[in-house]
Amino acid sequence: METGPDSLFVTLLLLLHSSHSESEKFEVLGPTDVIAAVAGDDIILPCYLKPNISAEDMTVDWLNLDFLDGRVYRYQNHRIIRDDQIPSYIGRTSLFKEELWRGNTSLKLTRVQGTDEGRYKCFIKAKSWYDDFTIQVLIKAVGSKPVVSIEGHREGGMGLLCESEGWHPQPELLWLDSEGVHLSAGPPETHRDFKGFYTVKQHVIVQETDTNRFTCRVQQSRINEKIETEVHLPSELFDYATPLRMAFIVLCCLGGVTVIGLSLAICCIHNKKGNGEMI
Ligand SMILES: *[C@@H]1O[C@H](CO)[C@@H](O)[C@H](O)[C@H]1NC(C)=O
Ligand SMILES: *[C@@H]1O[C@H](CO)[C@@H](O)[C@H](O)[C@H]1NC(C)=O
Repeated sequence: METGPDSLFVTLLLLLHSSHSESEKFEVLGPTDVIAAVAGDDIILPCYLKPNISAEDMTVDWLNLDFLDGRVYRYQNHRIIRDDQIPSYIGRTSLFKEELWRGNTSLKLTRVQGTDEGRYKCFIKAKSWYDDFTIQVLIKAVGSKPVVSIEGHREGGMGLLCESEGWHPQPELLWLDSEGVHLSAGPPETHRDFKGFYTVKQHVIVQETDTNRFTCRVQQSRINEKIETEVHLPSELFDYATPLRMAFIVLCCLGGVTVIGLSLAICCIHNKKGNGEMI
């Protein structure tokens, strides 16, 4: 077998070429399990290259797929690119710079909040190759103990309001009597603040019962959390005249006074007339 210098050169070239394109190829990997975080915590969203080649010269993009515009983070040309960063992530994101050379492009996210829940894409681009990996992040926040306030007499019963704030995901609010029976209440009111945490409140009108104990329960089954507040209303509260009854009594009194006044006036006029006739 003869191997000329030309064919050797071509073989070398081919080897060089293939080794070059091989070095550009990589896979982007991360955890397949959901990342569950508690609001306020600092978390790491793992992402890395396989093989563990350096990502220092690559573009690393972190995206939250629930946001159509903007990015969570971008590293490009050895710099952090802050243009188009989603406002809620400003000042809370970083890469581990000292880990980039071995293909670790994990993102650190500090003080997680409700709006951080979602699917994150770690997208890595080299000159002639790119790949990505998507991670699911869940945010859990247990809200405040429900606060029950007494609103006074309403429609023949007692009006109560229950309120609890700081939840994620959105919780459910229930009013229960002392037997645990669901009371029908007003429409639930939900508010989401700019950090993505939920406040729930609901009005209810309760009638006097044997125990006069009522419970407001706020629960979130996905994170398996519930908090309740029980109130005991003294039965004297129910005894006071309702505003409607008060109004009725006042109207009756006024009516009585008017009738008496009118009859007195008629009497006077009648008497005067009688007196006139006498003269
Ligand atoms: C890269 O991965 C290889 C095996 O997969 C490991 O032996 C080596 O320590 C890793 N290098 C770095 C810098 O992490
Ligand atoms: C990447 O770096 C972070 C921070 O040092 C570390 O917690 C994580 O385990 C690293 N991941 C890999 C795949 O080396």
